[in-house]
Amino acid sequence: MATLLVKDCRPIFQGLRSMVDVGGGTGAFARIISEAFPGIKCTVLDLPHAVTDMPQTDNLKYIEGDMFQFIPPSDAFFFKTVFHFFDDEDCLKLLKKCREAIASNGERGKVLIIDIVIDEKEDDRELTESKLLFDIFMNFNVGGKERTEQEWGSLFVNAGFTHYKIAPIFGIKSLIEVYP
Ligand SMILES: C[S@@+](CC[C@H](N)C(=O)[O-])C[C@H]1O[C@@H](n2cnc3c(N)ncnc32)[C@H](O)[C@@H]1O
Repeated sequence: MATLLVKDCRPIFQGLRSMVDVGGGTGAFARIISEAFPGIKCTVLDLPHAVTDMPQTDNLKYIEGDMFQFIPPSDAFFFKTVFHFFDDEDCLKLLKKCREAIASNGERGKVLIIDIVIDEKEDDRELTESKLLFDIFMNFNVGGKERTEQEWGSLFVNAGFTHYKIAPIFGIKSLIEVYP
């Protein structure tokens, strides 16, 4: 998915000086981005169990921490399959933290999200069924959920963002770009 993103979606990274992969796990995704775009300082923020002792490079660093407490300032904040683990209240907290960090960064910046967007009008029946199964799974297991475009949109607006773009480019998952 990271390789596809680098190949097909280069413009979303162009001009960025920094990016934080929030809840980025062991950094497999950020590593590919950091290698493809040496000018972007990439940081992976995750809990200690994921990032302790991970090898750093000139433009790939790891920070141990709780994203609900602190997200470092950056040009872009990247969340891949993170939001669907959380309810709306927690998602709003994360988005508001990013919005504040963007404000302290002189209005540069954006949030990039890879996650499921339920769209039963555009998707075929099988795809919608798969997305709804994920919704049940996330809700039942961790109290999270999958969201429709309207649900994503109201989270973004309530967090203080003004516009967003959704591209359904990764099978069941979409790329969402969110702007102040
Ligand atoms: C489903 S994984 C996604 C990992 C990565 N983004 C990917 O797509 O491969 C969710 C990640 O969020 C991290 N996470 C959960 N709660 C967190 C918190 N409070 N602060 C920082 N990271 C957290 C988990 O440790 C895990 O690595």
